[in-house]
Amino acid sequence: MRIIQISDTHLSPGKQQFAGNWPPLAAWIAEQRPDLVIHTGDVTVDGADIDEDLRHAAALMRSLGVRFRGVPGNHDVGDPGHPRQSVTAERLARWRAHFGPDRWVEDVAGVRLIGLNAMLFGTGDAQEAVQAAWLDAVMDGADGRQIAWFLHRPLFINTPDEPDTGYWSVKPQPRAQLIELARRHSVALIASGHLHKAHEFRHDGRLYLWAPASAFLVGPGMNAPLMPGENRLGAVIYTIDGPRLEAEIAHVPGLVPYLLDDVVEEVYPRH
Ligand SMILES: [Fe+2]
Ligand SMILES: [Fe+2]
Repeated sequence: MRIIQISDTHLSPGKQQFAGNWPPLAAWIAEQRPDLVIHTGDVTVDGADIDEDLRHAAALMRSLGVRFRGVPGNHDVGDPGHPRQSVTAERLARWRAHFGPDRWVEDVAGVRLIGLNAMLFGTGDAQEAVQAAWLDAVMDGADGRQIAWFLHRPLFINTPDEPDTGYWSVKPQPRAQLIELARRHSVALIASGHLHKAHEFRHDGRLYLWAPASAFLVGPGMNAPLMPGENRLGAVIYTIDGPRLEAEIAHVPGLVPYLLDDVVEEVYPRH
């Protein structure tokens, strides 16, 4: 069983700045002949506000001709506590209408894949509690399988006990609960997107994998904190054989390393 993880495609029919990276990505996926594609969010430039972005991106995903699942990113459904784009029931409903559930579980051989909506962490609302109860249940039901989590925002940047990193990782309180849950159930893999960097490391026996974006890189003008990882575009290939799960960050030929810094005022103008 072969699974491809892609992330941060930032697609939009209205803002085509990164659209040139979709055809080479789609061609590469076709060549890889995966059984499943997992998109870890920021599928769109601005699906949180523009329905057409979600519709367009979902149509492109369907055009791959491969079964896919997705979890939303901040640009798809909004961000907890964001002054103009918070996560609302309406935004979540729009995501589900185009991409299906924002959380899911799927057993593949000896591995249980779990997709999580990281945009609910720390909202404190009913949907967050519903997801947390669901997560407990699907973790308890893993029945000895290896467990792999897929979510947009990484749990942490450098260490699990680091303070709030703001935009870049999950807030300390929900993070601590998730790490405790992962520890209790020996989660094998926590795969994320969002940072537009490629990185993998082990911590407390778990593989943490930051999938590279396929749309653009984040340059020095974006005030990101100092963080590890490689500034490169690409995707991730997972091979599952029984209980064995192997991950490889892959080069995708033809991707152009656009820099967000060069076009940020057109793509994400400050209000
Ligand atoms: Fe992104
Ligand atoms: Fe993001």
